[in-house]
Amino acid sequence: PVRPVMAADILARKGGEPLVCLTAYTTPMARLVDAHCDITLVGDSLGMVVHGLPTTLGVTMEMMILHGKAVARGTSRAMLVIDMPFGSYEESPAQAFANARRLMAETGCAAVKLEGGRHMAGTIRFLVERGIPVMAHVGLTPQAVNALGGYKVQGRGADADRVMEDAIAVAEAGAFSVVLEKVPDGLSQRITQRVAIPTIGIGASAHCDGQVLVLDDMLGLFTDFRPKFVKRYGELGTAADEAIAAYAAEVRARRFPASEHVFPDELKGKQP
Ligand code: KIV
Ligand code: NA
Repeated sequence: PVRPVMAADILARKGGEPLVCLTAYTTPMARLVDAHCDITLVGDSLGMVVHGLPTTLGVTMEMMILHGKAVARGTSRAMLVIDMPFGSYEESPAQAFANARRLMAETGCAAVKLEGGRHMAGTIRFLVERGIPVMAHVGLTPQAVNALGGYKVQGRGADADRVMEDAIAVAEAGAFSVVLEKVPDGLSQRITQRVAIPTIGIGASAHCDGQVLVLDDMLGLFTDFRPKFVKRYGELGTAADEAIAAYAAEVRARRFPASEHVFPDELKGKQP
């Protein structure tokens, strides 16, 4: 069997061929991602993408474990990383350890991801020293949407130092990589040059050591959500809409099921 990608492999890719990362929430999608990506992320974006929540704040440990188990069944080669949900790690390093341990023990994931810069550095160090690889996440941190006042670009102008210091802090705390979300072009390049761990951009720039997107976004599974940083590699939402419309029309016209979809009362010859 193929050896799965581990934290040390990701670290070793600093400055090399860009790391490819996508989210997955289900076994079949995880299989598709596993065939092409270095990292499969069970993002807490699943709260909004598959559960219809307004933000990621309502996502629970139970949701992350349920989807994490499903994704693990479809993952054999890529590194499986699971997001720690809002409220599961911020109180104390001990709380973070207990919940990270649970995510790893119940899903078999190789690492956890948590949001926050300088203020989470102590927690990141605590986990890493105890055997839990941590992917950090700075810039726009969606769990802080209420404090940040929306899903805005982070680190423009005089705000650049803050995001730079957050990235340096999580790298020095021992994170094996850091997501830079909605960080402008030049700043994401300077952070990538400055920190010793791979930067993984989303709404950042091609200077990062890797890229991540939400799978459903890049597949075009939505018709209404089109942020600037999401390139659509497919229009699966349109395809699904057309398929469902065709099914509905055929059912109403009694054209589906046709004879080839129906089981005969008597078996003649070799029929299933
Ligand atoms: O929740 C998520 O999907 C994420 C990635 C987009 C980085 O955190
Ligand atoms: Na997330």
